[in-house]
Amino acid sequence: QPEFLIAPSILSADFARLGSDVERVINAGADVVHFDVMDNHYVPNLTFGPMICEALRGYGITAPIDVHLMIKPVDSLIPSFAKAGADIITFHPEASEHIDRSLALIKEHGCEAGLVLNPATPLHYLDYVMDKVDQILLMSVNPGFGGQSFIPNTLDKLKQVRERIDASGRKIRLEVDGGVKVDNIAEIAAAGADMFVAGSAIFNQPDYKSVIDAMRSELAK
Ligand code: DX5
Ligand code: ZN
Repeated sequence: QPEFLIAPSILSADFARLGSDVERVINAGADVVHFDVMDNHYVPNLTFGPMICEALRGYGITAPIDVHLMIKPVDSLIPSFAKAGADIITFHPEASEHIDRSLALIKEHGCEAGLVLNPATPLHYLDYVMDKVDQILLMSVNPGFGGQSFIPNTLDKLKQVRERIDASGRKIRLEVDGGVKVDNIAEIAAAGADMFVAGSAIFNQPDYKSVIDAMRSELAK
């Protein structure tokens, strides 16, 4: 019986009231805080860094924080995010000169580690790291912005990654990010995902709990 994790992307939260908005989404039943870090270099947008992660911890957020690094270079900010309270840190392999080293650095700092693959990034990046990753994130939109539409061929890619995870015999989470909504989460789960990032689908509705409940009932089908 798979355990499904719902990870609201705070990219779509109210930044002027970030602490209370994140608290509200956790109280509404979210499992994980998805924290999108953008640098206007690797992706054409700019968000927040370790100080904001630390501020959420200071505010009293205790839920796991899943830091999605869309930055280049990667390694220089890993220790800061670990100190700031990250639990999981993922990065894009194209943004790291030494993928194995970046994964090791994340683990050395006590966090779970993962790779993020863009819609057109091939799966061969996974070939020699299946024994080192705790999580694999497939982007179902091009990274940089919330509110984009789910790219349908992600479903086929999810199935292929699910096969690789099952063949590895390891417990690796398969996360999907971009355009996840109540009306497509069931088929995304059927393709093999077990961790679902959703930004606009949750934060653009007034009642977070009703969206998260609707997602869970779709997942229970
Ligand atoms: C995009 C980010 C996503 C984004 C998802 O680069 O990685 O986490 O916020 O937003 P929605 O769910 O609105 O597609
Ligand atoms: Zn993300």
